Amino acid sequence: MNINNLPRPLSIAHRGFSARFPENTLAAFKGAIDTGAHMIELDVNLSKDRQLVVIHDETVDRTTNGSGAVNALTLKQLSRLDAGSWFDPKFSMETLPMLGQVLDAAKDRLLVNIEIKPEAYEAQGPADAVERQVLALVHAKHMARDVLVSSFEWQLLENLRHLDPTISLGLLSDVPMDDNLRHWYQRVKGFSWHPDYRVLTRSQVVALHELGARVFPYAVKGKIDIAGMLAMDVDGLILDDPRQMI
Ligand code: G3P
Ligand code: CA
Repeated sequence: MNINNLPRPLSIAHRGFSARFPENTLAAFKGAIDTGAHMIELDVNLSKDRQLVVIHDETVDRTTNGSGAVNALTLKQLSRLDAGSWFDPKFSMETLPMLGQVLDAAKDRLLVNIEIKPEAYEAQGPADAVERQVLALVHAKHMARDVLVSSFEWQLLENLRHLDPTISLGLLSDVPMDDNLRHWYQRVKGFSWHPDYRVLTRSQVVALHELGARVFPYAVKGKIDIAGMLAMDVDGLILDDPRQMI
């Protein structure tokens, strides 16, 4: 399977199999692989020493035994943290993975949706900007056809499009489709739109399909909502428990 030849509908494990394992850990990603999910979704932030670390929040407080901002801690400090006990003490050996580790675990097994968090974006565009590092790593691992890069920060996606004419890009939003979204989708030559499922309507799915976009709503939970989304003819779902869809 590669990004240009996707099954439909696609099951995308949100932060890994986060219903069963601590989110954004190798355990959660391996759990997602075992369920037969087509893709994992993960969140990337920058450490103080500008390494690509997989964690959702701006701070380590909620999902580790540490405290403080991710970008105020070095990779060495971050990698010592317990990223599993908050979820269940049996996961106390889980740590915050680097993006490279997750790509290695996923390679030849399933696709990867790399969400770059807006707080890691730097408007001045340094040589080691987060999006540049992500792109370089993906290419170094020969995984350009295995990944979809997504963000709520659409300017970051445009930067990526200038750097790489073919990398697949997904626009995230928590508001309904409008002319601004349509403009940015075309500007970045997008691959997909990832809306909060609560703002999605059938007419928006039709409009996005007319633009050539795949529609992958996120935060979908429970059989009724999953069935409702699939009835709208979405192309895949980003969900905490991929087994619910499978
Ligand atoms: O990628 C979809 C979804 O993960 C976006 O929201 O807050 O879970 O990163 P969040
Ligand atoms: Ca995310």
